[in-house]
Amino acid sequence: MTNIRIAPSILSADFARLSDAIRLLEEAGADLVHLDVMDGHFVPNITIGPPVVQAIRKITKLTLDCHLMIEQPQRYIEAFLSAGANMISIHAEAETHLERAFSMIRSGGALAGLAINPATSAATIEDALQYCDFVLIMSVNPGFGGQKFLRGVLPKIRRIREMIQERRLPVKIEVDGGIDSSTAASVVDAGAEILVAGSAIFNATNPVEALRSLRTAASSALV
Ligand code: DX5
Ligand code: ZN
Repeated sequence: MTNIRIAPSILSADFARLSDAIRLLEEAGADLVHLDVMDGHFVPNITIGPPVVQAIRKITKLTLDCHLMIEQPQRYIEAFLSAGANMISIHAEAETHLERAFSMIRSGGALAGLAINPATSAATIEDALQYCDFVLIMSVNPGFGGQKFLRGVLPKIRRIREMIQERRLPVKIEVDGGIDSSTAASVVDAGAEILVAGSAIFNATNPVEALRSLRTAASSALV
C-alpha cells in the first residue's frame, strides 16, 4: 500500500523561531521538512540558503528536503550536500544538464528530485525520469506560500504516474503548492506520495492538529 508522507514547508513558519517550528514538526510526526530555497531570479522571492539548512541540520534528524528554486542550480549542489540535505530537487526549467546534476546529487548521498512548474508538460521530462529519485510537481507558480491550488495539474500528475509505471521506475511523486485538507485527496488520487504543505500547517491555529487532518484527508483517497 502507498505510504503517504507529509512534508511541511517552513516557508510559512516564523523565521525568527525556526527551532520552535522544527521541534513542533518533530512532535507532530512530520515525515520530512521541506526547505524552499529562492534566489530572486528564478522566482521573484528570496528566502534561505545553505547556512540556514546547515543550522537546521544541527538540531534535527528529520529528512531535509531542499527545493531549489534557483538559476544554475548545479553550482550550489555541493553546498547543499555539505549543509546536510537528504533530498535535493532542481527545476527542469533552470537546468540544461539534468542528468549531470542528478548524478552529482546522488553521488553526494542525497535523493535527486526533478521539479517542474505548473505549465511545464509531462512530455518534457519523459527522458529525465530514469535519472532521478522523485518528481516534484508544482501546483502553484513557485515563489510564495499561500497561493491557490491549480487543479489543472491533476491530469499531469496522473500522466507522470503512468509514465513512471510504464517504465517500472522507483520514482516517487511529490506535489507542492496550495495543498490543504480540501485538496490533499485529489492529489493523492492522482498519484502523489509526498505532499508539501506550508500555510495549511503554519497558518493554522493548531499546526499539530492541521498536520493530522491533512494526513487523514490524504489517506482518505486510498481507501
Ligand atoms: C512555493 C513553495 C512551496 C510553498 C508551499 O514556491 O515551493 O513549498 O511553501 O506553500 P503553500 O502550502 O502555502 O502553498
Ligand atoms: Zn517547495
